[in-house]
Amino acid sequence: MRKKPVIDIRGLSKYYGDVVGIEGLDLKVYPGEIMGFLGPNGAGKTTTIRACLDLLQKSKGEVKIFGLDSHEDSLEIRRRTGYLPGDFGMYNDLKVKTILRYLLSQSGLSDESKMLELAERLDLDMDRRYGELSKGNRQKVGMVQAFMADQDLIILDEPTTGLDPLMQQKFYDLLREERENGKTIFMSSHILAEVEEVCDRVAIIRKGRLQVVEDISSLKEKMGKKLVVEFDDGVDPEIFKIDGVKDVKIEGRWVTMIVTRNLDQVIKNISKQNIINMSLETFSLDQLFLTYYSSGGSGT
Ligand SMILES: Nc1ncnc2c1ncn2[C@@H]1O[C@H](COP(=O)(O)OP(=O)(O)OP(=O)(O)O)[C@@H](O)[C@H]1O
Ligand SMILES: [Mg+2]
Repeated sequence: MRKKPVIDIRGLSKYYGDVVGIEGLDLKVYPGEIMGFLGPNGAGKTTTIRACLDLLQKSKGEVKIFGLDSHEDSLEIRRRTGYLPGDFGMYNDLKVKTILRYLLSQSGLSDESKMLELAERLDLDMDRRYGELSKGNRQKVGMVQAFMADQDLIILDEPTTGLDPLMQQKFYDLLREERENGKTIFMSSHILAEVEEVCDRVAIIRKGRLQVVEDISSLKEKMGKKLVVEFDDGVDPEIFKIDGVKDVKIEGRWVTMIVTRNLDQVIKNISKQNIINMSLETFSLDQLFLTYYSSGGSGT
């Protein structure tokens, strides 16, 4: 049996005049999980997150966080939630240290140890003025403030925007550690590969409606990855006849295929010939929709 959800969204709708922000959204996020909230631009991710934190007035539905009402108990919820907004910004003239200390004191805390540890981990120079920082470094300030008060729930709106690949990896490590420490994380993204790498479950939203909620492991199993191999010579098609390999296309020395299972066996078979080049790619969000959810249906 699952524990009580940390976030419990029921029938949530938000209309901006005639424009649908989100409609009829039901979603639960459980303690100790990293839930990815995936969708293309304009899908309704930010709207959902802002409605959860009572930063906008919802049109319909109910949101409970820690069992508390998102509107009535919004102050208590904010106290217990770390939040990185999608458009994080701060006063340009202030030093990073000043900003972070101020925000920490706003949470009623004075212990700076986690703040300092995070800044060091993320390689953030706290003595510079916010306005002097590059986009990625500004994003790190947002990240430090989201985690530094050590709250039980962390909500992140497109957290890796502007981060280089190395920094993204550091951030994923941080998320995994926070999960180990029992934190619950709800993060939006428009990159399937990122969600696949770090999340336990994913909710996919499009045009304001929830399309599917799925375990990452079953999503991976269903989708597979695209394997592209360049051999030094023509290749025997027989070696790709393996359970879990489909859509094999051979064009001269180049072979592409979809691998859903038995990657190990695939690698063993292909390595009997000389390989010049090879890549294993996660599908893009567009391809995911085209392949599995093109009818706009519920997926599973
Ligand atoms: N203040 C607003 N006024 C009118 N329409 C809005 C407003 N904010 C959002 N919308 C509309 O609501 C829909 C959902 O927007 P939202 O910002 O939630 O999407 P998103 O999934 O966060 O997109 P992105 O990936 O670009 O951040 C879009 O059609 C958007 O144009
Ligand atoms: Mg957004």
